Amino acid sequence: MSNILFVCLGNICRSPLAEGFFQYHCQQHKLERRFSVDSSGTGGWHIGKAPDSRAIKVAGEMGIDISKLTARQVNSKDFQHYDWIIAMDRHNLVDLEDMAKNTNSHARIELLSRLINTSAFVDVPDPWYGDYADFQQVAGLLDQACATLLNVVLRNA
Ligand code: 4NP
Repeated sequence: MSNILFVCLGNICRSPLAEGFFQYHCQQHKLERRFSVDSSGTGGWHIGKAPDSRAIKVAGEMGIDISKLTARQVNSKDFQHYDWIIAMDRHNLVDLEDMAKNTNSHARIELLSRLINTSAFVDVPDPWYGDYADFQQVAGLLDQACATLLNVVLRNA
C-alpha cells in the first residue's frame, strides 16, 4: 500500500481533480487497494469546503465525482504518513519543502511535472481566477498526468 497526497494552494481546484483522476486510473487497472489517495492545500482559506463548482462540473463531465471531497490544509503528520507528496506547482513545492524541515519527514516530496518527466507543462496552471475553459484544460492535463503518474509510482513503490 502506498499513501499519496496531492497538494495545491487552496485544495479546491487542482489537487482534488488530481485525487479524482488518480483514483479513476487506479480503478481502471483494479489497483485501488494498492493506494490510499488524498489531497490538501498549503493554504487554509477553504478548509471544510467542497471543491470549486467548476472543478466538480468538469470532473463530472469526465465521469468522476469529486463533489464529496472537502478541503483541508497540509499538516506536519502528513510528512510521516504519506509516501508521496506531490506538488502541483513550484510554489507548492517550496512551501512543502519548508514545512518538511520541521518534521521527521519520510515522504518523497515531488513536483508533479518533474516526477512524470513531462515537457508538456512545468506548473499545473491555477484555474481559480480563470474561466471554465481553464478548468477544462487543467482537467485534461491532470487526467493524462495521473495516468502516467500511476506507472511511475508503481515502478518506484
Ligand atoms: P487551487 O486553486 O490551489 O488549485 O485549489 C486556488 C483556489 C483558491 C485560491 C487560490 C488557488 N485562493 O486564493 O483562495
